[in-house]
Amino acid sequence: MKTAARAAAEAGADGIVAINSFGPCLGVDVETGRLLMGSREGYGWLSGPALKPLALRCVFDIARAVDLPIIGVGGISKGTDAIEFFMVGASAVGICTAAILKGPRIFGRVAREIEKWLDDHGYASVEEVRGLAIRRWEEWAFRTAHVPPILDVDACTGCGLCEASCVYDAIHVVEKKAVLTPEKCYGCGLCVTRCPVRALSIAG
Ligand SMILES: Cc1cc2nc3c(=O)[nH]c(=O)nc-3n(C[C@H](O)[C@H](O)[C@H](O)COP(=O)(O)O)c2cc1C
Ligand code: SF4
Ligand code: SF4
Repeated sequence: MKTAARAAAEAGADGIVAINSFGPCLGVDVETGRLLMGSREGYGWLSGPALKPLALRCVFDIARAVDLPIIGVGGISKGTDAIEFFMVGASAVGICTAAILKGPRIFGRVAREIEKWLDDHGYASVEEVRGLAIRRWEEWAFRTAHVPPILDVDACTGCGLCEASCVYDAIHVVEKKAVLTPEKCYGCGLCVTRCPVRALSIAG
């Protein structure tokens, strides 16, 4: 990805649109046993929400490799999806699948959601969030020793999602509050990603 981006820059590109759909992929209609797509091999190409993490990684890599405007595309259907792309270095975003599925009004809705999100978070413009995740990543002190998450007991709703996700049996809900057993915890962070109310966090 970085090599291709640098080659595009050296060849005089004014900007980069990333990414396209990904594939080939396959799907099966289990009622008929037929492949879902109509190409000769039965292949199709992935787009929409499942593509977003791959697209974000590509934009992140391109933004760190070249100093060109990037239009981020892949799985955007709401304002915060677009904000993610801005944070990894995109200057603008594109939407295809969500417009096909929900109609062209999606463009105005996502634009309004971006504006509202920026207002709500005290940002004056997209420029202020552009590349933020890259700067945070540069500042990040990567650690190799594990630490247990920090639990905000007051914020915990006792939903149990952390308990369900911990394969180390290190966190349990007792009397509607999560209880962590640090000696059992491997610091994998999975429970942190599952908590819907951000009651769990990892230091740093
Ligand atoms: C039905 C469909 C047709 C597409 N046709 C093209 C195309 O002709 N040329 C192209 O560069 N990308 C094409 N794409 C890829 C989109 O431009 C876009 O890069 C990709 O779908 C990821 O964005 P999305 O998740 O918002 O759809 C197509 C995507 C879909 C779903
Ligand atoms: S960080 Fe990992 S090991 Fe520790 S409690 Fe959470 S899910 Fe379990
Ligand atoms: S996932 Fe979060 S809110 Fe739910 S029980 Fe665990 S810590 Fe509490």
